[in-house]
This record gives sequence, structure tokens and C-alpha cells, in this order.
Amino acid sequence: MEFHDRLHRELGAMQSAERYRTIPSVAGRSGRHITIGSESLLNLSSNDYLGLGDDAMLRSRWLEETGADLPPMSSCSSRLLTGNHPLADALEVELSTLYGGRSALLFNSGYHANTGILPAFAGRHDLVLSDRLNHASIIDGLKISDASWKRYRHLDYDHLEALLDEGTKSRRQCFIISESIFSMDGDLVDLGRLVELKKRYGAILILDEAHAVGTLGPRGLGLAEAEGLSEEIDIIVGTFGKAFASTGAYAIMGPLLREYLVNTARPFIFTTAIPPVMLSWSLWTLRRQTRMQEERERLQALASRLRTSLQAQGFSVPGESHIVPVYAGPNSRAVAMAAVLRQRGFLALPVRPPTVPENTARIRISLRATLCWDDVSGIPGALREVV
Ligand SMILES: Cc1ncc(COP(=O)(O)O)c(C=O)c1O
Repeated sequence: MEFHDRLHRELGAMQSAERYRTIPSVAGRSGRHITIGSESLLNLSSNDYLGLGDDAMLRSRWLEETGADLPPMSSCSSRLLTGNHPLADALEVELSTLYGGRSALLFNSGYHANTGILPAFAGRHDLVLSDRLNHASIIDGLKISDASWKRYRHLDYDHLEALLDEGTKSRRQCFIISESIFSMDGDLVDLGRLVELKKRYGAILILDEAHAVGTLGPRGLGLAEAEGLSEEIDIIVGTFGKAFASTGAYAIMGPLLREYLVNTARPFIFTTAIPPVMLSWSLWTLRRQTRMQEERERLQALASRLRTSLQAQGFSVPGESHIVPVYAGPNSRAVAMAAVLRQRGFLALPVRPPTVPENTARIRISLRATLCWDDVSGIPGALREVV
């Protein structure tokens, strides 16, 4: 019973600290709305940034094009055994073409990619330097790897440089890992600076573009594409589960690195491959989103207008992307802000520690290209009431 008592105690402590999580009962999602219980709310908490995921017409068109010959619903095996499928090869070829002929490797999710890549490449003689606000999947990858690792202060490249300077003297290889758009703050990495540092110190640079693919770059390939720096980054990770409205992830790199991952990345080797039916959909949404530059521009313009309006009401709203975090401070205030928004028909969830650092609880508004100003213009005034 001691074990169960401990679990009860810990869950109770989470409840008192307003950190307790439950799975919402989502009755359905349609277009920009989500139905929770009997409430229909404007969904501002989805990563469907281009609106491809909740577009029923689009699914019908894909089905029409796919015809009666729907690809299998499961791979029933790892790709290294019998689970490979022509669609997996085709998706990698498509990605490789988009990224200028570099090699592509699929993973089952961004979580698989981030917990596979670092442990594969970084061993006990190496040092990994990771931005302090990197996603939990990157942190878990660091924990699994045998390498030493340190976190540099968020976007503080002087701190990173000092750690590189020290690390390159004693370590076989240094790695730098960062997100491009940070998922909880919506701010952007200084990619030019990272590339300059990686070159100066001979480090390997890994960039997680989970929130930037689909939303940045003329063909939606992320910040690296937008800044013309893709070739300079050793490994780019993109995910299909957000703007691409599917499931899975990919890594872009040179052929040698790909060959090495195929032979050593455990979350690639020891798992059943992505179902072919989802590969077909990924290929379809990937191609489609390359032609959605107008939507990307609309999305960024909307985010900039909302951010300015919130700041004019006195809120601290960091970042410069379609992810608009409104800082609340204590957990209870973030919860109150989310409740007021919900009364007005908006679903924008509070994000609390341990997802974000202590005392930086916030409302995370994630916008999508299918929204217009009239849809969100009521948010700043509603939040003002809580304050
Ligand atoms: C920056 C970042 N990387 C990786 C992931 C994980 O991707 P996936 O949902 O495909 O596992 C997420 C969120 O889910 C993320 O925000």
C-alpha cells in the first residue's frame, strides 16, 4: 500500500499546486471550432497552423484522389524488417528534393526523432549544449544519451560561446541543439549566430523546426529555409503532426549521417513504422502546403496584430511568431485568464510549470491561417478584465 499512498500524495500535491492534468473530453473538432462537452469554442490551442487538419473537404479530396485503393492501415513491422513501404521511400524522396538533395529519414514522431538522434550521435566523450527552453523531447534525448550536456540560457549566445570554448578543449565533439520557433514562447532562434558559432567551434548543429515547418519559409520548410541557411545545419528535424496535419517526423542531413541513424537510432529501429495510410496523407499535405505562402503571410500578420493589441493593454507578450503567449505569472492567474476566455467562446489553454519555468504560467494562443482579426479581436479586452 505504501506505493499507492505515495501516488495519492503526489497527485494531491499536484492538485494543490494547480499542476494536475486531466484529459479533456473532446466531443469533436470541425473547422476552427472544438466541442468540449456541449460547448463549442474557437480552438486557439491547436497546432493545426494552416487549418489543414480540421478541413473535412480536404480529407474528402484526398480520399477521392487515393481512390478505393486505400493504403494499409498498419506497417505491422519495423522498416528494417518487413514494414517498409513504397510510400515511405516516396515521402523521403519528396523531402530530399525539397531540401536540395540532402538525405531524409522518417521517424514515427518528433518525440521519436529527438529521443533517437542525440543518443545515436553523442557518446560519453562528447558534450551537448542545449537551449534552456528546448522541448521536453529534446531534454529526454539528452537524458538518454551517454554524452555530457549543459543548458545555455535561453537565446544567450554569449553563454553558449563560453560553454563551447570550454567544451571544445576537453571533448571529442560538441553538439548544439535548439528549436527554431520556441513552442512555449513563440520566439525565434538567431540562426545566423548559431551557424557562425557552430563553424567557429566545429560543432554539429541540430535544429528542431517542429513549429516552423508550414509556417515559415516560401515553401513552408521552416526558419532555415526562410533565412537561406538550410545547407549550413547538420540536422534539421521537422514534424508532420502540427502544420502538416498528419503524424510522424523527419530528419534532414547528409547521407552518412542518415546511414548511421538507420543503424543506431533505437526509436527508428525498434518500433513499428508509420502506417502507409498516414504516409499517403503526409505526402499529400506536404505537397499542398508548399503552395500556401499566402496563408503563411496572413498568419504572421494576424499574430503581429494580436501581439501589438495585447501589449497595448499592458500584457507581456514575448515572441514574434504565430504562437502568442500572454504571460500571467502565477498559475492561478493563468487559470483565471483561460476561464474568462472560455466564457467568451475561446479555447486558449493555460500552460504551467513544469512545462514552463516557475512563475511564468501563461496563456498560449496558437493562431492559424484560417482565422481573421474579427475572430480574435475580443481577446485583449477579455483578458484585461482578469487583471
Ligand atoms: C519543439 C517540439 N519538438 C518536438 C515535438 C514532438 O513532436 P511530436 O508531437 O511529433 O512527437 C514537439 C511537440 O509535440 C515540439 O513542440
